[in-house]
Amino acid sequence: MSLSRKVVLTLAGNKAVTSFVSNYGMKLGAARFVAGESLRAAMDRVKHLNDEGLIVTLDHLGESVTSREEALEATQAAIDIFDAIKENGVNSNVSVKLTQLGLDIDHAFCLENMNRIAQKAKETQNFVRIDMEDTPRLDVTIDIFNTLVDKYGKDHIGLVIQSYLYRSEQDVINLGKKNVNLRIVKGAYKEPASVAFPNKKDVDRNYVKLVQLHLQNGNYTAIATHDEAIIHELKAWLKENRIPDNLYEFQMLYGVRNGLQRQLVSEGYKVRVYTPYGMDWYPYFTRRIAERPANAFFVLKSFFQN
Ligand code: FDA
Repeated sequence: MSLSRKVVLTLAGNKAVTSFVSNYGMKLGAARFVAGESLRAAMDRVKHLNDEGLIVTLDHLGESVTSREEALEATQAAIDIFDAIKENGVNSNVSVKLTQLGLDIDHAFCLENMNRIAQKAKETQNFVRIDMEDTPRLDVTIDIFNTLVDKYGKDHIGLVIQSYLYRSEQDVINLGKKNVNLRIVKGAYKEPASVAFPNKKDVDRNYVKLVQLHLQNGNYTAIATHDEAIIHELKAWLKENRIPDNLYEFQMLYGVRNGLQRQLVSEGYKVRVYTPYGMDWYPYFTRRIAERPANAFFVLKSFFQN
């Protein structure tokens, strides 16, 4: 992990920094990466994205919840998104984080909450994807996913795998046997070299390998990266290997590489924008800054412009 990324992730955990950014955040530029604080505001953004040919996955922000009450509220918020998608007739599915649904409180409680969300996804003929968090939560996340994909089917629930982890190749092989829908990402958390490749070029190489592996096994793959070199390489590989269009999609984050998102749409690719909204945007926002510290300058500039 680069020094600048480490510094940002460490600062993000500092109380004084947290309170300053939380108070001034939207003004500070979080609005570039977050589609508003309410579901209604997010729906407006989704409609605009759909009008531009982009499809969406909505994420009601929040993680590391410590009370059952908060976890139940977050569960209901995720369920409500499916109703809003239907009522507004927009093209979107939903992404969730298990720590928001009570994973750190009680695994059985979290499974029950996730079960309600997956059931709603199936009832509304939609899809929910479980985001992947840091490695202490990885095994239990895969266990919960496996339980629910057996119950609701791969058309209604999917998972994320991170290419920075040594173990991910084996996870893709194991999950691939169930033909599940995986989103492949590089990974956004601070992980030690004992579990994650310390060098970016290894993370990048593994990224391409995992995408190809899952697709070669005939499984639906969400190629979630803004890395233009990787996208270029994979586009050529998809063509050479005659991978059917209905087996993959590109995914990018709201507010990141907007031009590239639209360029891919104009070339005929399916592109989904991960669109977060809600009051609890601070941890998400700091990870985006950590990925690209140059974003901090953008943020400071918008602060002084407002
Ligand atoms: P990389 O970091 O190498 O960036 C490549 C290029 O993209 C940069 O040079 C820059 O041009 C641009 N870029 C990247 N990040 C940027 C930013 N924040 N602002 C501006 N430009 C930027 N992680 C995780 O651990 N669990 C998860 O569940 C998910 N889910 C997820 C969903 C989707 C749809 C995406 C796109 C990403 C995630 N991630 C994630 C985050 C992922 O792990 C990773 O941290 C980011 O995508 C950044 O990595 P890239 O693949 O873009 O490459």
